[in-house]
Amino acid sequence: MFSDGRLCFGGDYNPEQWPASVWAEDVALMRQAGVNLVTVGVFAWSRLEPAPGRYTFDWLDEVLDLLHAGGIRVALATPTASPPPWFSAAHPGALPVTADGVRLHHGSRDTYCAAAPAYRTAALAIAGALADRYAHHPALALWRVHNEYGTTCHCEHTARAFRRWLADRHGDLAALNDAWVTSFWSQHYSDWTQISTPRATQYLANPGQLLDFRRFWSDTLLAAYREQRDLLHAANPAIPVTTNYVLGDWVPVDHARWAGEVDLVAVDHYPSAVDIGAEEQTALVGDLARGWARHGSRHRGDATSAWLLMESAPHQIHTTGRAHTKEPGRMTRHSLAHVARGSQGAMFFQWRAPVGGAERFHSALVPHAGPDSRVFREATALGAALHRLAEVDGQVEAGVALVVDAASGWALRHPGMPSDRLDHQQETAAAHRALWHAGYGCDIVLPGDPLTGYRLLVLPALYLTDDDTAQWVGEYVTGGGHLLATYLSGVADEHARVRLGGYPGALRDLLGVRVEEFHPLAADDQVRLSDGGTGRIWAETLRPTGAQVITAYAGGVLDGQPAITRHRAGSGTAWYVSTRPDDATYRRLLDEAARSAGLTPVCPDAPAGVEAVRRRAAAHGGWLFLFNHTDTPQRVPARGTDLLTATAVDEAVQLPPGGVAVLREH
Ligand code: GAL
Repeated sequence: MFSDGRLCFGGDYNPEQWPASVWAEDVALMRQAGVNLVTVGVFAWSRLEPAPGRYTFDWLDEVLDLLHAGGIRVALATPTASPPPWFSAAHPGALPVTADGVRLHHGSRDTYCAAAPAYRTAALAIAGALADRYAHHPALALWRVHNEYGTTCHCEHTARAFRRWLADRHGDLAALNDAWVTSFWSQHYSDWTQISTPRATQYLANPGQLLDFRRFWSDTLLAAYREQRDLLHAANPAIPVTTNYVLGDWVPVDHARWAGEVDLVAVDHYPSAVDIGAEEQTALVGDLARGWARHGSRHRGDATSAWLLMESAPHQIHTTGRAHTKEPGRMTRHSLAHVARGSQGAMFFQWRAPVGGAERFHSALVPHAGPDSRVFREATALGAALHRLAEVDGQVEAGVALVVDAASGWALRHPGMPSDRLDHQQETAAAHRALWHAGYGCDIVLPGDPLTGYRLLVLPALYLTDDDTAQWVGEYVTGGGHLLATYLSGVADEHARVRLGGYPGALRDLLGVRVEEFHPLAADDQVRLSDGGTGRIWAETLRPTGAQVITAYAGGVLDGQPAITRHRAGSGTAWYVSTRPDDATYRRLLDEAARSAGLTPVCPDAPAGVEAVRRRAAAHGGWLFLFNHTDTPQRVPARGTDLLTATAVDEAVQLPPGGVAVLREH
């Protein structure tokens, strides 16, 4: 296994940016801070292979030996996310092309086309050379392939590969024409060579083509990962291989489908909000990563759902146009919130802040000020805290399953939808936020995942619903489960073709409603609801066909018409929410749905602003993580031993502002 029995603590270490004289100090400081794992070599291609086929490994030998002597393990990266200038000069045809047909130039990172044979060959060569030299190095704990797969390309290599992928998926052109509804706008294809990637075009592009391109490109990047992985596995099967996932709505990767292909799900998380939104996002990403890990382990057929926070920023939150300095204690809260949700540690970008380069002002454990700094002291305290939590194990307590589907996210963002504000990820985040504030543990699941043990299933705008998914949801509900589905769920099939007969298509009968018309709202518009709340983004003309009306629209053209309904289906219950309720209303609604499904919050007596996450392991009992996200002290009724302070808690934990406790419960 990649860990040394403790939780991992460390981050991206770039010794190639420093003279050798700094390396010994680095290792000494790492030991002082409790660092036990570092990623090395992630952007070091030009230092490792300064000319084609000429390798300079002497410096890396020295660094790995130094780290090993210091007891620090290494996640060795393959540097393939940043080809050297000689590669781009020799292979201009492997530089990426945008949808507008512009070929990008060298000068940043990630300037390659993942479908270009020259790139794939060069990437495999450097990965192979690293494997030959280091696969049995005693410091090696983990291979980290590439960095954040996420680039796209529209060059001719890509177009050819796209056609091959399409032929594989659809079999023949007739099936493709049918799936893409090419009868519309005279787009019928009579030869494969007529099909290109969805390049810039005159007006709205074909939704089927856009969706298949996203799927194809995710598979292409996955193939690039897999060929490196297979080579590294072959060199030493005992060393696990992973790649770090980058998150964001622009990312062309279906992380869930990749999860079975990595030995360890590893995610990078950089919240984009400065306020409590950063904690909400942290909770969501931790739950997502755990969901992917669980899904992946089922796919591989092993029993580990471990995952790792591979990168995070120690002391900054990057928002558009500004870096926000994290308040004291926040780095620890964010890190432990990930650990609470199953991360095997907390890793950072980066170890030491560089003097130059594009990211010279990015956050680091050793900032420009050096180790005599608040950041380094807090990092050292975090290292100690993480090592006190080595015993934490087991499953996160969660009675709610929230469905996430990358393809639905891609399809909802296609042009030509009735609103440009439709967003599966935003709907997922809104539902998760409501559950988080209401105090319920939540697992992220994928369509088709087992639902045993969950009392409530939430579908946040699950736009693409194929027949199997509809059946999966139906069997869950009729078998006694509780469902809450939001607007646009069930509306389209797997090719993004609209299901006829009234929305929400595949789920109409289960939800006991029929929708004939949408009423998308303007950006600054909201609709009033009869329970005093408001709705945004979307509203509908909804006719119950068996469901009971819980909340109606109030005022405007929809005055008095149903907004939220509940339907008894088999021995289960199905709620339908036809708008995006404001946060307080959504929280009340999900609280009611959860309670009526028989659930209680993780820590029912926790005051507002205190987050509670419980882990349970059959052999060991339980651990309760408590986070005070407020700026006042909070008292939380609980019993156990606080592992962070090694003190017994008989009645209640006193959490200072921004404080954390981790109780071993008895
Ligand atoms: C990550 C990336 C790192 C670094 C970091 C800066 O997404 O993997 O290499 O760029 O962002 O925040």
